[in-house]
Amino acid sequence: MAKRETFGSRFAVIMAMAGSAIGLGNIWRFPYTVGEGGGAAFIIVYLISSLFLAMPIFMAESIIGRTAHAGTFGSMEKLAPGTKWKYVGLLTVIAPLILVSYYSVVGGWSFEYLLKALSFSFNADSMDQIDSMFGNFISGTWGPLLCHTLFITATCLIVLAGVKNGIEKFAKLTMPLLFVLIVLIMIYAVSLPGAAQGVEYMLKPDFSKLTGRAVASAMGQSFFSLSLGVGVILIYSSYISKDENLLSSGLGTAGFDLLFAMIAGFAVMPAVFAAGIEPGAGPGLIFQTMPYIFVKMGMDAPWLSATVSILFFLTIFVAALTSSISMVEAGVAYLTEEKGLSRKKAVFVILALTWTLGVFCSLSFGPLGDAKIFGSTIFEACDKLISNYLMAIGGFLFTIFVGWKMSKETVRNEFTNYGKFRFNDKVFGAVYFIIRFVAPIGIVAIFLTNLLFQ
Ligand code: ALA
Repeated sequence: MAKRETFGSRFAVIMAMAGSAIGLGNIWRFPYTVGEGGGAAFIIVYLISSLFLAMPIFMAESIIGRTAHAGTFGSMEKLAPGTKWKYVGLLTVIAPLILVSYYSVVGGWSFEYLLKALSFSFNADSMDQIDSMFGNFISGTWGPLLCHTLFITATCLIVLAGVKNGIEKFAKLTMPLLFVLIVLIMIYAVSLPGAAQGVEYMLKPDFSKLTGRAVASAMGQSFFSLSLGVGVILIYSSYISKDENLLSSGLGTAGFDLLFAMIAGFAVMPAVFAAGIEPGAGPGLIFQTMPYIFVKMGMDAPWLSATVSILFFLTIFVAALTSSISMVEAGVAYLTEEKGLSRKKAVFVILALTWTLGVFCSLSFGPLGDAKIFGSTIFEACDKLISNYLMAIGGFLFTIFVGWKMSKETVRNEFTNYGKFRFNDKVFGAVYFIIRFVAPIGIVAIFLTNLLFQ
């Protein structure tokens, strides 16, 4: 087998992992789940979940991937040969593919909005139509389908270029630009008249409104945001060199991811209140609020607004791509390493599967709106299946594997690089305890609460 590629530097590792983590989850999904979950109280649960559930899963996946330097199937075979653990690999092939199918639909929406920005559609005349603009677009047939097709094809083409040439270069280039833009938009959004209420909504918790379902949704969001439990972090970690400090790159990635989500929240929520939009409006939230910001901005500075709107949707599109790339890579790694397919064939198979499921997800906003699975549309059902169930199941299994199946010495050696990183050595006991007990018990408790209170 060819020598496994590795990322070139710590910066490259963090940028590629952050590229996988930071995407629509932060900019599109976080603000609307905060809106649905009731604001600041939801954010507090999200932060706790990020620290005690998501971060341990991240470390567990990193430890498995780097120890074995293989995909999920290969890692399980190496670390627990002849056991049923290898079947966790199936989950990590199926889940990212479902995820990328509906993700691509939203990625397609961001492409459409990029085109709208390029054709200067967010102007004063469009103020009254901003709301209907989104609804009309997603409920159509061909427009969203075409955008989904372009998005998933672009993703697969980048994956075809390979780890170093495609993913790494892409991520290094675009992440910093997106960060600067989102900060600028946030500063502008909080200065809008009426925005203060949105800031308060983000900062002042009202725990009386926090439901069991919102707690489960906060956990799901913390997993979704870091692409956890579906093998993506495991695969990326298998490309990390043996000299790298897993704790630093994990904290760096999670830190960036959290920062992005919070900044996106502080950009979107003030605008939601300034524009008089319902915070719980659902998946369309950023596509309704951002144009509002750009129209407002355009009243004072048309060129600035045009430039910022173009760059904003361009960088969202790219951030979505860097995430979807990592999910497709999970499927491709399986087909090439386990099934012996060439990279080209593997990419084509994944493209065909994800495109097909994505078509159904896209049409579920329009012609297939009445097709329901347990009361949810096809798109909603896929999202629930991933963020509420499969990610939690995968995360649980990874923490159990590291906490109970691998030997403590192996885990310690991987975590501390055989004692080289002193700080990691000092915190190992606490981290190991959280991976072994706190995270799995917490995941099961929230998972069951969600099932019981559906
Ligand atoms: N982690 C990816 C995102 O947040 C799925 O977009």
